[in-house]
Amino acid sequence: MGAPIRSGNIGRPTETMRLIISTFVGVVVGFFLGISFPTITLTKINLPSSIFPSIDLTYIEDKYSGLSTQALLNAWTTLKSGSYNDTKVYPLLLLLFSLFIIWIPTNPRGAERLPPDIIESQSDFYLRRLWGIPSEDLTIKPKYLVTFTVGINQKKNIDKAVRKFSENFTILLFHYDGRTSEWEEFEWSKRAIHMSARKQTKWWYAKRFLHPDIVAAYDYIFIWDEDLGLDNFNAEKYIKLARKHGLEISQPGLQQNSELTWEMTKKRDDSEVHKKTKERNGWCGDPHLPPCAAFVEIMAPVFSRDAWRCVWYMIQNDLVHGWGLDFALRKCVEPAHEKIGVIDGQWIVHQGVPTLGSQGKADAGRSPWQGVRERCNREWAIFQDRLKNAEKTYLEAAGIDASSLESDNQKRIRE
Ligand SMILES: *[C@@H]1O[C@H](CO)[C@@H](O)[C@H](O)[C@H]1NC(C)=O
Ligand SMILES: *[C@@H]1O[C@H](CO)[C@@H](O)[C@H](O)[C@H]1NC(C)=O
Repeated sequence: MGAPIRSGNIGRPTETMRLIISTFVGVVVGFFLGISFPTITLTKINLPSSIFPSIDLTYIEDKYSGLSTQALLNAWTTLKSGSYNDTKVYPLLLLLFSLFIIWIPTNPRGAERLPPDIIESQSDFYLRRLWGIPSEDLTIKPKYLVTFTVGINQKKNIDKAVRKFSENFTILLFHYDGRTSEWEEFEWSKRAIHMSARKQTKWWYAKRFLHPDIVAAYDYIFIWDEDLGLDNFNAEKYIKLARKHGLEISQPGLQQNSELTWEMTKKRDDSEVHKKTKERNGWCGDPHLPPCAAFVEIMAPVFSRDAWRCVWYMIQNDLVHGWGLDFALRKCVEPAHEKIGVIDGQWIVHQGVPTLGSQGKADAGRSPWQGVRERCNREWAIFQDRLKNAEKTYLEAAGIDASSLESDNQKRIRE
C-alpha cells in the first residue's frame, strides 16, 4: 500500500496521483461489473489476498456502513454517464482511496492508521534480556510496584525498607540528589529501576513516570516517602488485607510517636483495618468525609490499579508537593468512605526526617525548609481553588446549582 493520503494533497492531483487513482478506479470498477449491486456487502467480496494482504474489510465496512454501497453506486452512475468534471469526481476518488487505507477510530488517539493487533497501549517496568527468546525473558512478572523517592542520606533506611518487599514487587527509586551509583552495593539495586532528576518531589516523579498506561501491569502501586520505618510491616500481608477489605486507596497505620498526625491515620491495636474515626471537635462536619473518613495521608499511600488511573489525572504538573491531594482522593472512588482506609494489621513509623526540606533554597535569612513549607501551604490553597472551580464550571455547564460546593470541613481546616 502506498503512503496514506491526506486530504490536503487531493486538491490538485499530480500525474502520479492520477495514475494511482486510475488504477484504483480500474480495480473497483472491475469488481462492480461482476457483482450484482444492492445486496453486496464488502466482506463478501473476495479480494485476491496477494494484492491487498493487509486489509481487513470488516474495519472498512464498520466505518462506512450504510454509506459505501449507495454512494459508490451513485458515483459510478456519474462516472458512466460521462457527466463529471474534476470537482465532482474527487469525492468519489477520496472514497475509493479510503477503502484501501486503515483508519480505526477506536484505536488510541493518533494511532488510527495502525491495525489494532499491533498496538501495545500499555507497558510495565519489567527488565528484559538483550538475548534469547523474548517470551522467555521473564521468570517472574511482579504484580505490585513500590516506589521510594530517595536521597543517599537515607540509604540505610531504604535498604531496610526495600527488603520488606518480595520478588513480587517491582522496585522503583526516584533519586532527587543525583547520586544513583552509590546504591549499587545492594544486591536488590540491580533489579530495581533507578530514575534520577535533581531536587524534585515524589508527586513530580509520579506524574512523569507513573502514567496509568505505563504501570498497567501492577495490581497495587505504593508511592512512598523515604523516612518510613518498616520494622512491623510485611508487604504481601498488607496487600492481602487491602484486598480482603476492598480498599482501593489505603495506607498502613502510623505508630504514634512525637509526630503530629491526623487521628485517621493513627494505628489502632484492636483492628485489622479502620475506615473512619473521630477528630477534634468541629473538624468533621460530615462523618463520611475527610479527615474523619475517606482519607489517607500522602506520605505512604497505596493505590489499586483503577484508583491510580483516576488519581494520576488529578495530580497537577506544577503543584509538586501534592498538598491537598489527600483530601481529594475520595473523588476517585465510590463510595469513598468504604474504599479508602487505614490498615492497622501492618503498620509503619513515620520518622519525620525533613528530607526534602533541606533541598530547598536559603533565602533572605530564612532556612531552606521554611521556603519549602511555605510553598506546600500555598500549593494546598491553589489546589483547593482549582478543584472547586473545576467542579463549579462543570456543574454550571450542566445547569446544576453549585453554590453549596465547598464543604464545611475544608473551609474550617484552611482557616
Ligand atoms: C465542474 O462542475 C462545477 C459544478 O457543477 C462547475 O461549477 C465547474 O465550472 C465545472 N468545472 C469544469 C472545469 O467544467
Ligand atoms: C509471590 O506471589 C505468588 C503468587 O501470588 C505467591 O505464591 C508467593 O507466595 C509470593 N511470594 C512471597 C514471597 O510472598
